[in-house]
Amino acid sequence: MTQTLAAQAIRPSDPSTTRLEPLAGHAVDRTVVIQLRMALSCILMAVLGGFLAALHYVPAVSTWLNGIGVSLTQLRPVHTSFASLWIFGGSLAVIYHWLSTQHGGLDRADRLRFRFHTACWIVAGVGIFVSLLLGVSSGREYLGFHPAFSAVLLVGWFAYAWNFLRRLRHGFWAQPIYVWFWTVGTLFFIYTFVEGHAYLLPGVFENPVRDLQIQWKSCGTLVGSFNFLMYGSLTYVAERLTGNRGYAQSPTAFWLFGVGCLNSFTNYAHHTYHLPQTPIVKWIAFIVSMLELVILLKVMMDLARAMRQRPGPFCGRASWLSHAKGWTGTMLLYSIVISVPNVNSIIHGTHVVVGHAMGTTIGIDTLVLLGTGCWLIGEARGPAILPRLDCGLQRASVRWISGLLAVLVAWLIVAGTIHGWWRYQGLATPQWVAASRWILPLCGGAMGAWLIVVAVRMLRMLRAG
Ligand code: HEM
Repeated sequence: MTQTLAAQAIRPSDPSTTRLEPLAGHAVDRTVVIQLRMALSCILMAVLGGFLAALHYVPAVSTWLNGIGVSLTQLRPVHTSFASLWIFGGSLAVIYHWLSTQHGGLDRADRLRFRFHTACWIVAGVGIFVSLLLGVSSGREYLGFHPAFSAVLLVGWFAYAWNFLRRLRHGFWAQPIYVWFWTVGTLFFIYTFVEGHAYLLPGVFENPVRDLQIQWKSCGTLVGSFNFLMYGSLTYVAERLTGNRGYAQSPTAFWLFGVGCLNSFTNYAHHTYHLPQTPIVKWIAFIVSMLELVILLKVMMDLARAMRQRPGPFCGRASWLSHAKGWTGTMLLYSIVISVPNVNSIIHGTHVVVGHAMGTTIGIDTLVLLGTGCWLIGEARGPAILPRLDCGLQRASVRWISGLLAVLVAWLIVAGTIHGWWRYQGLATPQWVAASRWILPLCGGAMGAWLIVVAVRMLRMLRAG
């Protein structure tokens, strides 16, 4: 049954209507290039913040950093904010590619709104970076910056949403799945981002339990919203790469959409297994979350198979997807294990959870979006750039990033599990765990260096030509 679905999904039923035109080359709108540049700059900021935060894992360096006024509480939100901005931004670059190639492209008003939201996001990005380093923070997870910057980000988002949503006047129901993903992701963001600021209301802030409940729920859905934007970008680029319209209208793609929607409403509960809660709620959260990962894995396997069948050299660009596929499978297993209630109660609040967050946002989101970014560069700069996109250095980068991430995640799992298990027994964490903390800055630093190599090369290729 699974094989039949995959075959149906990747085999065009009528070649005359399902094949796409070959890659055009030099056909990318300026808005796409600007948006991709901004997203790649966010990677640079995220890596910088992550590396400095990781240095806090070495006690002597941490004391020195604290002495010069650069604490982990300042650096962590710099890192997580720019990591999330990269994922949103990388997806938006693909969305602008679609906007600029459909229904007559972007008109003057669209471009004005694009300039407006770009200005808003640059102002907010710089403001967030500077204010966090000055110690101005909301102290919230993922929304650690001052709410004034949230307002600027949101106003910019409205301008982008206007550009995107007005395209739906050309129809919604018959559109390929990526338009559905992007529509829901765009709307979800507005709702969850506003909800994530409910703590500004005295009635919520003064009631810590309610505050926590809302925070978990909105954070879960916020992640759901960037996942939706990324899934949309993945299926859109896969459609263009394989030259096959069938996949974006296949049952598998629509299953991913349906289960993903459901998960956005239920996934908060997989963060609260340790709290008193009706078991049925926990079971629904568990089953739906795992189902989403299973379907995502299947989508990636189908696409990898379809790309292998496509003639032409794009192995360097395809290897991002093939590693992301491996990470999706690994993270599926990881999620299942840490969701077993007994295991969850031991690892909750330990580095095992950091390993899961970094494994998914780097191993899945970042690898996919670097792949889609490479595809955009190929479209923008034409065939002449392809050898640079598919060269040995590019393939080596994917392998190193993925390999170093694997070491990092393995260490986070071991350190977190040992800490959790000893904590459960009422004992102090063994000394060797604390003594191995240098692994994070070392492996993370090396992985960050490769990410910088990739991002800088991509920025240079965007400039070339
Ligand atoms: C684009 C690449 C990256 C992404 C998307 C990413 C994502 C994340 C996320 C989502 C978290 C939050 C984890 C949680 O909620 O528990 C996190 C934490 C962290 N990341 Fe990254 N990361 C990236 C690169 C790096 C690099 C290159 C380094 C280091 C050299 C690094 C070091 C850290 C540190 C130190 C933390 C905080 C761990 C703690 O709470 O103790 N990250 N990262």
